[in-house]
Amino acid sequence: MSTAKKRVGILISGRGSNMMSLIAATRAPDYPAEIACVLSNRPEAEGLFKAAAEGLPTRAIDHKSFGAREGFEAELDAALRAYGVDLIACAGFMRMMTPGFVERWRDRMLNIHPSLLPAFKGLDTHARVLAAGVKLTGCTVHIVRPEVDSGPIIAQAAVPVLDTDTADSLGARVLEVEHLLYPHALSLFASGAISVSGERTILTQDAVNQANPLYWPPLS
Ligand code: GRF
Repeated sequence: MSTAKKRVGILISGRGSNMMSLIAATRAPDYPAEIACVLSNRPEAEGLFKAAAEGLPTRAIDHKSFGAREGFEAELDAALRAYGVDLIACAGFMRMMTPGFVERWRDRMLNIHPSLLPAFKGLDTHARVLAAGVKLTGCTVHIVRPEVDSGPIIAQAAVPVLDTDTADSLGARVLEVEHLLYPHALSLFASGAISVSGERTILTQDAVNQANPLYWPPLS
């Protein structure tokens, strides 16, 4: 496994609670990644102010200032490279990406989605989970591929759906677990504990021996 810390660029559009969980995790001396910058397509994103208060470099690249998606992405790409980013962590980044951008960062860009993918891709996840009547939901950290909410899964965590749930109460229960899962998955990825094989990720033998990270909490 590599020893140099991977430099992570976090992409956000909103409140940035997952971003904060990643920032907190990277404070541990032995965490295999550090935050190089936080970028947002929305200048008013609350998370940008939180990241700046943590002393991190931040930048807003307002997608509305660009005529075409490609122009916005070229600027985003230039900023990520200027900050020396190795890996991108999307954390509530609400902008569709072109296949060209995704391919430029192939196997170097992660996302968190609040469902057990491949179920319930897209928006309004928790309301759709409730309408479907499933008894378990959860969250997924995956490597980004051009199709929305698709790509090799790094880690998932399951959360119960209660009869009394609203979309908000369920979303809050899932979010708590997201804050545990994302730092865990980024650590696995940045440390080289997993590799990508086609559309799956595979744990190295060392990582298998440490804990089974495909479950949360880890099975002992
Ligand atoms: C999270 O639920 C995440 O899974 C989804 O968008 C939400 C972002 O929340 N992609 P926050 O900005 O991290 O608080």
